[in-house]
Amino acid sequence: MALERTFSIIKPDATRRNLTGKINAKLEEAGLRIIAQKRIKMTKEQAGKFYEVHKDRPFYDELCEFMSSAPVVVQVLEGENAIAKNREVMGATNPADAAPGTIRAEFAESVGENSVHGSDAPETAAVEIAYFFSGTELVG
Ligand code: CMP
Repeated sequence: MALERTFSIIKPDATRRNLTGKINAKLEEAGLRIIAQKRIKMTKEQAGKFYEVHKDRPFYDELCEFMSSAPVVVQVLEGENAIAKNREVMGATNPADAAPGTIRAEFAESVGENSVHGSDAPETAAVEIAYFFSGTELVG
């Protein structure tokens, strides 16, 4: 399997509780390399565009409000099978269903405030990376 890249967000509930380092340690222990990272505060419009695929879901407005409520850390992760590996270390979307030891099992507060986001497929990873990073910022 060739090296793969995925996009990750450490969400406002986690940055508020100063969990960036603990979450990064879990990513690195899983064999993922953080090849780009920045702390930003999204506008509600920026969050809305990022999550446009969910625009007809009942939680869309709440999700965009939450994602723009405090700083987030956006990241590009690289590794063998990085998309699946990151989803494994994140755990299920709902922390009640997340496997023990995963980021969401340990840190997430609810299905909406679930500490991390990770791309679900190579196509979405490419689009999500390009939404926040230019090519010269990726220094694997
Ligand atoms: P994420 O992986 O960032 O992708 C979409 C997000 O929508 C998801 O994580 C959850 O945080 C959020 N989400 C999913 N289901 C719900 C829900 N029922 N209520 C609020 N937010 C949700």
